[in-house]
Order: sequence, then C-alpha cells, then structure tokens
Amino acid sequence: MSLTTNIFGQTGTAQPPAVTPTLADEVIASLQELYRELDTLPDLRPGPVVDDLFGRLVRLVLTAPGQAVPAVLDDLGIRELAPRLRALCARGEGELELSWADRIQAADNPRQELARFPYFDNYRQLSRLELGVLAAAIDRPVRSLAFIGSGPLPLSSLFLAGDLDLAVDNLDRDDVALEAGARVAAAVGYPDFRFHQVDAADAELSGYDVVVLAALVGDTAEAKRHVLGRLAASMRPGAILLARSARGLRTLLYPPVDASALHGFELLTQVHPVNDVINSAVVARALGR
Ligand SMILES: C[S@@+](CC[C@H](N)C(=O)[O-])C[C@H]1O[C@@H](n2cnc3c(N)ncnc32)[C@H](O)[C@@H]1O
Repeated sequence: MSLTTNIFGQTGTAQPPAVTPTLADEVIASLQELYRELDTLPDLRPGPVVDDLFGRLVRLVLTAPGQAVPAVLDDLGIRELAPRLRALCARGEGELELSWADRIQAADNPRQELARFPYFDNYRQLSRLELGVLAAAIDRPVRSLAFIGSGPLPLSSLFLAGDLDLAVDNLDRDDVALEAGARVAAAVGYPDFRFHQVDAADAELSGYDVVVLAALVGDTAEAKRHVLGRLAASMRPGAILLARSARGLRTLLYPPVDASALHGFELLTQVHPVNDVINSAVVARALGR
C-alpha cells in the first residue's frame, strides 16, 4: 500500500479501482499472449509447442462467448494485432501442410495417412457445406473447376474432385507448394490433377464453370478486393465464384470477403458456420465485363 494525494488534495491510502476484467478483456489478453508466444518461436513447423499454441488459438476463436466478440474486434490493440496474427496463421498453415505433404507421399498407405491430417474432418465438413451451396447456385453439372491457392496439401481439391467427379485445376503462386501438392495428388491416386504456377491476379479463368478462392489468397481487405476485381474480369459471365471467407473472431485467423468487394459479381449466398468449421463460404455469379 502507498500514500497518495488524490485530485481533491486529500492524502490517503491508494485503493486500486475495483475493476473486474470483462469477458472481452480476458479474450483480448489471451489473444495477445498467444500471439506473443507464437511470435517468439524460431519457426512454425509442427511440433508439440506450435501445435498446442495454434490449437489453443483456434479453440479460443471458436469458443469465446458471443457477447464479447464485438468489443474484442473493436479493441484498438486487437485491430492492430489482427493482420500480424493472420500472417502467423498463414505461415503456420503453410508449414503444417508442407510437413503433411511429405508424410503422405512417404507413407506406405498415403490415403490412410492423409485421413490422419489433424484438420481432415474440418475440411471434409467445409467441403460438404460448399458442395451444398454450389448445388443451389448452379443447376447443371459442374464440368470444370479451378482452385486458386491449392497449397501443399490440396485436400479441398481432392474432396471436390471426388464428389463432383472431375479433374481440378490447382493454381498457386508458390512453386514449392505446387510441387508438394502434385506429389500428394499422385500419391493418393489423382494423377489427372493439373497444377499451374500463377498469381490469382493473373490467372486466365474463362474456361471454368466454377472458381474456388482459398481463404488465404488476398491477405488484406485491399489485396482481397484487388484479386476479386481481377477474377471478375477473367471469369466468363455466368460462372460461379466460391470464395472462402470468415466472420466474427474467425477473421483473426482468415481474412473476410467483404460483399462490397464483389464488383462484377452478383452475390448469391453466404454461409457462416457456427460449429467448428472455421471458414465461411461466399457464392457469387460472374456478370462479365
Ligand atoms: C496454405 S494454402 C491453404 C489453403 C487453405 N486451406 C485455404 O482455404 O486458404 C494457401 C495457398 O495460397 C497460396 N496463395 C496465397 N496468395 C496467393 C495468390 N495471390 N495467388 C496464388 N496463390 C496464392 C499460397 O501460396 C498457399 O500455398
């Protein structure tokens, strides 16, 4: 305890104000602590520490009480932290996928190994949800599909290919990711998958019925708007865009697609899961320019 002079000039014993941390304060403190711990690691390759920290981050984002979310997202510190947190998550996801791509192609039974991927069930659920919204948006069979940002572990492309019975064109700007993705596809029995190294903004997309945009393509609102503008110019009129997005605290892991960035598209539907599927799905029809 210390003696202080208060604003009325009276001297007394300092009493800290009786402030109880709100739910939002607790979530904010946990997010900042998890960010600090992840940011001090020498690398984000999967292992007990990295997996535990990302696991806690994902659980926090999925389970934080709904009434705390607006205050958390409005907090200046969190607004400043969000792009850095998303960048860490993108790096971590890339490392996780690369490591599993190696495991899968080296396994005696690559399909069994693929099914052990820690987020296998989440992607399976997300893919089913996406197939449902696609079926509602397009009334003829999908004959051609491009997946932009397929990554080192093209799990979503594999699900879509299996369910729609077509060969997916996988596009990614990163040659290491593409090469790993091609090895996984061959190992699990999809030799007809095609892989193209290209930036989303430069992709020629007029030959596709459906274009899927991975959540991590366009890591800021401005970058997402730019990519979506280029897609609108490249896709043929009537083709369907399925863009992965995020809502609420999940936007701390993945960038959201803002409906106002969909110039050149007609927005058809948006689905925001409330279970442990992290990504939202935004479906829009290209209008042609
Ligand atoms: C790690 S994967 C994961 C995909 C993830 N499951 C999702 O839905 O976002 C994301 C991939 O997007 C690729 N990527 C990011 N920005 C891109 C861009 N502008 N053009 C093409 N690929 C891009 C990265 O190289 C990376 O391989």
